[in-house]
Amino acid sequence: TYIKFDRSKLTPFIAENELNEIQWQVTAADELLRSGKGAGADYLGWIDLPEDYDKEEFARIQAAAEKIASNSEILVVLGIGGSYLGARAANDFLNTTFSNYQTREERKAPLVMYAGNSISSNYLADLVDFVADKDFSVNVISKSGTTTEPAIAFRVFEELLVKKYGRDGANARIYATTDKEKGAVKVGADANGWETFVVPDSVGGRFSVLTPVGLLPIAAAGHDIKKLMEGANQARKDYSVSADVRENDAYAYAALRNILYRKGKFSEILVNYEPTLQYFGEWWKQLAGESEGKDQKGIYPNSANFSTDLHSIGQSIQDGSRNLFETVVRVDKPRKNITIPSLDADLDGLAYIQGKDVDFVNKKASDGVLLAHTDGNVPNMIVTLPAQDEFSLGYAIYFFELAIGISGYLNGINPFNQPGVESYKANMFGLLGKPGYEELTKELEARL
Ligand code: PA5
Repeated sequence: TYIKFDRSKLTPFIAENELNEIQWQVTAADELLRSGKGAGADYLGWIDLPEDYDKEEFARIQAAAEKIASNSEILVVLGIGGSYLGARAANDFLNTTFSNYQTREERKAPLVMYAGNSISSNYLADLVDFVADKDFSVNVISKSGTTTEPAIAFRVFEELLVKKYGRDGANARIYATTDKEKGAVKVGADANGWETFVVPDSVGGRFSVLTPVGLLPIAAAGHDIKKLMEGANQARKDYSVSADVRENDAYAYAALRNILYRKGKFSEILVNYEPTLQYFGEWWKQLAGESEGKDQKGIYPNSANFSTDLHSIGQSIQDGSRNLFETVVRVDKPRKNITIPSLDADLDGLAYIQGKDVDFVNKKASDGVLLAHTDGNVPNMIVTLPAQDEFSLGYAIYFFELAIGISGYLNGINPFNQPGVESYKANMFGLLGKPGYEELTKELEARL
């Protein structure tokens, strides 16, 4: 398939017969997922999304991105969790590394900045200061329309827009991505005439990057969302042909990580060797963690950025508690390459690699780590993307979404709900004195 999945380094940890013996469970998980008879089946809209998306809305997204490009230096994207991480991961992966520091002309697209993904007053105030004297638009993204973090940020940026452009001017710069009929954002959009995009009912937050949730911020940053969808659609086709783990890499990955988990490898690290993949790791952590960590079980997902983190947590991975495994995401062809300069004097001892390119060294480093970690009893799998482009990214997004859906069913949980995220919200509301939470307020304050 287009991205390569390599399980060859698992040999010391998993015997071939184990893969045969889990096949019936994978087949059952595949049937559950594809028939819509499994737990959480109301949230399977992501499966056919790359083929079956609203083409009229897609064109509106492209038109909105053009309009934003024509009148804004900055697009402020407000959202959290599934309404944030996909777009951030995609833009960081597709942008050149320092695009945030380029001028509008150099970047050839508006700068996309994010807020509403924490409750930091510093962050919000700094961003307000940064955009206040620039032309900007706002994309507020909230499926429920009531999430506290983006709601607070939206109040702040809506006020700023109105101050700067007046009510009508502000309305023309607000793009709302939300539920088709309910929630505060939808009410605001209807009342003020904001351009609105729909988060489909059947797609949960962490599976929503290929809906307008991800597509508008990605298009606004100047990336080709058609290619992104094409990549995802290719993956959809490739991984729907067979449920056999020897023919379906997404299913093989799902099966293998469950085999490892059942042997006590409780934590998976998604490893990258490109700083621009850091947020892909964040996106994947939510996808895996929110889908699988429930009913007091599930693989705990981590991420690491190598070789940076080899000089920090590398020690622990090599030599600490042996409950880890790694999935390495590699990019075959770097966007750019650079040669190690040749010097007459060899003070730094690099003469043996001078004249080679830096990516060559990166690949050798990752090969070396692969063997060292395997020797240190950390099983490794490798997912290789051919290039750092939209098509590869779309393909990889679908690979991981499908694998996590199957993986959740393999572990006997509902991969598509997230009951655990409500507990902190209730406590926060109680402590903030939200109406309706009076009893909880008293109880929590006594405990504090
Ligand atoms: O994946 C999820 O369901 C969550 O991470 C949500 O995306 C997140 O809580 C934001 O929710 P909303 O889009 O309703 O503001």
